Amino acid sequence: MRKQIAAANWKMNLSLAQANQLTDEIVATSHSLNEHQLAIFAVPFPYLLTVKEKLKGKHNVFVAAQNCASTKNGAYTGEVSAEMLDGMDIRYVIIGHSERREYYGETNKILAEKINRAFESNINTIFCCGEPLAVREAAIQNSYVETQIKESLFHLSAAQMTNFIIAYEPIWAIGTGKTASSDQAQEMHAHIRSVIAAQYGSDIANSVSVLYGGSVKGANAKDIFSKQDVDGGLVGGASLVAAEFAIIINSLK
Ligand code: PGA
Repeated sequence: MRKQIAAANWKMNLSLAQANQLTDEIVATSHSLNEHQLAIFAVPFPYLLTVKEKLKGKHNVFVAAQNCASTKNGAYTGEVSAEMLDGMDIRYVIIGHSERREYYGETNKILAEKINRAFESNINTIFCCGEPLAVREAAIQNSYVETQIKESLFHLSAAQMTNFIIAYEPIWAIGTGKTASSDQAQEMHAHIRSVIAAQYGSDIANSVSVLYGGSVKGANAKDIFSKQDVDGGLVGGASLVAAEFAIIINSLK
């Protein structure tokens, strides 16, 4: 079975004291993760090592960065490289979140470079894609997401695409309380898998974990995750409450 993943995206939230408290609560909460299930916590850069230390020894639980630089190293003030993350033994990074695309001008081409840097450092990418409201209203979301995938991922080798992680996050559902219906999620996830199958074959497409993101919470996780092509979620707001995120983890297939 391909990996089922509950990924928390803390974004730019929490003081250090609050981050410590939330992590302690997460540690104290019991999660039942099977061999094919992962919980990943994408925390702000300054908290990576602290949170990682606290979560040490938890089975199938990992810490992730929310971004990395598209360049290797050098005079890029304020950037954090994949090599630095590797040096801290951070094994996951979110790349291409819609907030990065929208507020920091990250294009499909830049994201392809970031993914290359992550691979060079043996860091697993969680690649985000998803359409804005106007695209959904024009009913052209399938070709929009297809372009995002082609331009950022299709340079990867078959080996690199095997077990890759994609998060489909319709922008109109992020932080709005408006969730895509589980049928809408399934429809897009099946489309994403078919786009990958056309390029890499169905075996590789079936190995890719496709997560849903956008107002996932304890109350809707089970329904969304139950769909055939939905392999878990990337969760913002609800991941800041330990008990809520525990329900989401326990809703994984
Ligand atoms: P949300 O955010 O769960 O708060 O909608 C999801 C995300 O942006 O990853």
